[in-house]
Amino acid sequence: MEQLSAHDVLTTTRAVRRRLDLTRPVPRALVEECVEVAMQAPSGSNRQDYGFVCVSDPVLRTAVADLYERSHANAVKTLIDYDQGDVRGPAQDRLQSAGAYLREHLAEVPWLVIATIRRKRSDQADNRELASLYGSVMPAFWSFMLAARARGLGTCFTTRHLTYEQETADLLGIPFDEVTQVGMTPLAYFTGTGFKPAGRIPVDEVFHHDRW
Ligand SMILES: Cc1cc2nc3c(=O)[nH]c(=O)nc-3n(C[C@H](O)[C@H](O)[C@H](O)COP(=O)(O)O)c2cc1C
Repeated sequence: MEQLSAHDVLTTTRAVRRRLDLTRPVPRALVEECVEVAMQAPSGSNRQDYGFVCVSDPVLRTAVADLYERSHANAVKTLIDYDQGDVRGPAQDRLQSAGAYLREHLAEVPWLVIATIRRKRSDQADNRELASLYGSVMPAFWSFMLAARARGLGTCFTTRHLTYEQETADLLGIPFDEVTQVGMTPLAYFTGTGFKPAGRIPVDEVFHHDRW
């Protein structure tokens, strides 16, 4: 397997959809290894209340994929109108067809991994509380995907299934009253050799020195 530097991993962990290898099994031990790496991520007050529900049973994968597809079918579709020359325009077009591919093949991906946190978002939650809740699991979720990349595995950060969070909880026995799901990623070996850094908007649109 290629040896990647931290820079390589950070700049080439792409949303993998078409290049997920649907035919090659991924051993559970490798998934566990990625979870162990992910657990080095920070969490508020070091609570370590994140969790990863790793689904490999084909019947359950099909049921999760159905909920994902149902959510897409029922969603209001919005395409953003980017200016001519903005890198996000062509990327958006590619995203549409890659997204359709993923929906179509989701049930065939060897593992579907749902990131969770053992806290419930109250309706009165202020921004600090929300930042702490999501901020205590998203870094671990992203670390999971980086760890996967370093091991020749492809992932894709998704939130689509969350429209049916309760149904997913019922399906997988996740205690809905105590645990919030924050995302799901397919996990499979990727086909082909490597990935490149993606086009991004100019850094000076993002970097603010001293003042906005
Ligand atoms: C919060 C969040 C939600 C996302 N939800 C989905 C999703 O539901 N389905 C999907 O196919 N991709 C989803 N993505 C992946 C993005 O489309 C992808 O990261 C983006 O197009 C950039 O591609 P790249 O990561 O390969 O550069 C999501 C990404 C993030 C960060």
